[in-house]
Amino acid sequence: MVHTHTPTILATPNNNVLTTANGNPVDDNQNSLTAGEFGPILLQDFHLIDKLSHFDRERIPERVVHAKGAGAHGYFEVTADLAKLTSAHFLQTPGTKTPVFARFSTVGGEKGSSDSARDPRGFALKFYTEEGNWDMVGNNTPVFFVRDPIKFPDFIHTQKRNPQTNLKDPDAFWDFLSLSQETLHQVTILFSNRGTPCGYRHMDGFSSHTLKLVNSEGCAHLVKWHFKTDQGIKNFTADEAADMDTKNPDSATEDLFNSIDKGDFPSWTVYLQVMKEEDAANYRWNVFDVTKVWPHADYPLQKIGKLVLNRNPQNYFAEVEQAAFSPSHMVPGIDVSNDRMLQGRLFSYPDTHRHRLGANYLQLPINQPYRARVNHHQRDGPGTFSQNYNNFPNYEPQSQDSNGPAQQLHDVRTKYTSVALHGKTGRYPQRSGDDDFVQPGNLYRLLKGKEQDDLIKNLVGNMRNVKNAEIVKRQIALFKRADPEWGCRVEDGLNAVKK
Ligand code: HEM
Repeated sequence: MVHTHTPTILATPNNNVLTTANGNPVDDNQNSLTAGEFGPILLQDFHLIDKLSHFDRERIPERVVHAKGAGAHGYFEVTADLAKLTSAHFLQTPGTKTPVFARFSTVGGEKGSSDSARDPRGFALKFYTEEGNWDMVGNNTPVFFVRDPIKFPDFIHTQKRNPQTNLKDPDAFWDFLSLSQETLHQVTILFSNRGTPCGYRHMDGFSSHTLKLVNSEGCAHLVKWHFKTDQGIKNFTADEAADMDTKNPDSATEDLFNSIDKGDFPSWTVYLQVMKEEDAANYRWNVFDVTKVWPHADYPLQKIGKLVLNRNPQNYFAEVEQAAFSPSHMVPGIDVSNDRMLQGRLFSYPDTHRHRLGANYLQLPINQPYRARVNHHQRDGPGTFSQNYNNFPNYEPQSQDSNGPAQQLHDVRTKYTSVALHGKTGRYPQRSGDDDFVQPGNLYRLLKGKEQDDLIKNLVGNMRNVKNAEIVKRQIALFKRADPEWGCRVEDGLNAVKK
């Protein structure tokens, strides 16, 4: 029994005759069918009814976060021998190129919001490997605001619109941040000029999370992925971002499309930070805490490849809007870690994809693991675009078809390595205390001259809109714990504005 895919929808008709969606030639696309010249429209005008009812259904829910984005196709080329670290096939031989689809995005705004908003930027990559798709769903920042997924929906609510006014709510924003000290590191990055990148080509990308690479002997290393822009980092100041917002709210989308269109292909050099698994227990920070970086002095960047984007999408909706990335789309040789945020995301993305795109979202052309042979027992459901596995058995174990898909019981290249567990179940706070202030304080002191002045200016410019004085006081206390000078400068700036 051979399973064959039938083509989904013909991309180009074989001649230029306009047809209905069921393929009948259309004689008149300007005038509806009416009863007499001045009479009402007839229900039998299938072309009109079909056209209107399809139009009525043109929108799908926008992404609950990262709704505004732009995407492009390209490839990843591995340039180092990674066999010691991972058994992932696409990372074995230097020179191997893997097709990639990338989507960049802002986070908090709606689908029509501005590309130059102060916000982290999404940096999502889909690697179409021969062993299925691997999605690296990162941001342009190496850390995140919170470190437990249970806090994520609340955090996002404070970045969105007030339930009563439907306006952005600075009090909610700073209330949450000032009550969650672990946010300070990402807040520092967000309010530096790195919070307003000058387009998607001029920013770095990070896995942010700790992932694992597992070699063919089953030996695991902890890793963080870094994608460093070859175009150089460029950021807007707050004034330049506001100016760009008025001139062209789609500036980053346009810049990415136009540069690829004219053959100026953006690229990123790819690096790994690698840590031995046994080092994790004794490192000075919890290495699974996504609010912290691993200092490069302890874990230097190792160059491993190149990412190039060289082809624009042909159709935005089909390729960019319907793209569905998930940290749980993994391949053998790449594994998850105990990072709690990552664990929460493993569930949340496929769940939202089923809501946004339907149960068969992986059959959509942009999401299909087209270089692997997909072989499972899932069947039916809305939008079954494929041949639905013809008459293949739809269960396992089975004895009727010797070619039926079977589990790989003895394949050591499994996706999940075993992890030693200790203790009892419980809701344990992640150890933090003063640790949460060390890296933000270092970052504040690393920013020099105008960069540091801009951080203060950007914070004052935003916090001046907070009405509740208690919230401001609490946030200033957090800055002071990271660096007393930092807190005082924001305090002075806000007092000066008040006067
Ligand atoms: C998009 C949830 C943390 C990066 C999304 C979406 C959801 C979501 C529901 C919309 C996906 C879609 O509709 O296709 C969560 C949850 C998190 C979390 C529950 C924490 C528990 C993070 C972190 C990062 C990140 C830490 C980066 C390191 C992204 C990116 C997208 C996205 C890049 C856009 C993907 C695309 O371009 O389609 N997230 N997120 N998220 N998230 Fe998260």
